[in-house]
Amino acid sequence: MLTMKRIFVLGLALTIVSATIPGGVTELSGADLKEAEDTLNNSLSKLASGDGPNYKLSKIIKVTRQVVAGYRYVYDVELIEGSKTKVCNVVIWSQPWLENGIEVTFNCPDGQVVRKHSA
Ligand SMILES: *[C@@H]1O[C@H](CO)[C@@H](O)[C@H](O)[C@H]1NC(C)=O
Repeated sequence: MLTMKRIFVLGLALTIVSATIPGGVTELSGADLKEAEDTLNNSLSKLASGDGPNYKLSKIIKVTRQVVAGYRYVYDVELIEGSKTKVCNVVIWSQPWLENGIEVTFNCPDGQVVRKHSA
């Protein structure tokens, strides 16, 4: 009887774990897309007023989000730097509960830049 109960508890635990397993990559639209845009704008303005780089969002081409100890957003975007516009791939790994928990990686035609900031 005890064994049955253990198996039941284990089964329940596995069901809960598998329901929240990370890894699914979702392309965002609607309210999620808007939230992802806010997240990106927040990072861009924090970096611009700190160590740089100094970018403004021109437009989002595509964003995906993945749950991995927080959220990992992957953006294909057009960024404005001064008077130039360039297309970059930007990754924001957001763990806002950590000090410097927001990691931003810019993959642009002129190279890669990685920055961290707090939420
Ligand atoms: C993000 O920033 C861009 C450029 O500054 C602006 O046009 C856009 O409306 C902002 N988006 C949001 C969701 O605030």
